Amino acid sequence: MLADSAAWPIYSAMKGAYPVGATLVKLEYDDEKCATLVGFTAMQKLAAAEAPTLGDWAWQRLDADRNVVPSTASTCVACHKHHCQETDGTGLDLSCAEEK
Ligand code: HEC
Repeated sequence: MLADSAAWPIYSAMKGAYPVGATLVKLEYDDEKCATLVGFTAMQKLAAAEAPTLGDWAWQRLDADRNVVPSTASTCVACHKHHCQETDGTGLDLSCAEEK
């Protein structure tokens, strides 16, 4: 997991509000030892009401060479809504502290 300086204080504490432009990046590996990087997923905070159906985040998938891979943001959102619950403290604004 990578967070830029705008996102890190919020993400690490799972508290507060992500400022516009805050960026989270996840490195995706295809093995348990995390030896083979297969790509990245990224989310960047947008302005309020810019993309209400996407939680006001831009969602992106990239391959290992950082080329954008076409993906359906609504799929990202649906899963994050399911896994990143604010009610049990494991999520904040569709970001996840850990998988539950
Ligand atoms: C199958 C469910 C699922 C789908 C689909 C999914 N995610 Fe996630 N994502 C998670 C979970 C769970 C985490 C929490 C960290 C972990 O356990 O890997 C996460 C973490 C992340 C993170 C790291 C920041 C954070 O919230 O922890 C980013 C960035 C991210 N996902 C982006 C995306 C993007 C972009 C897509 C669509 C292209 C996507 N995800 C699709 C379940 C999903």
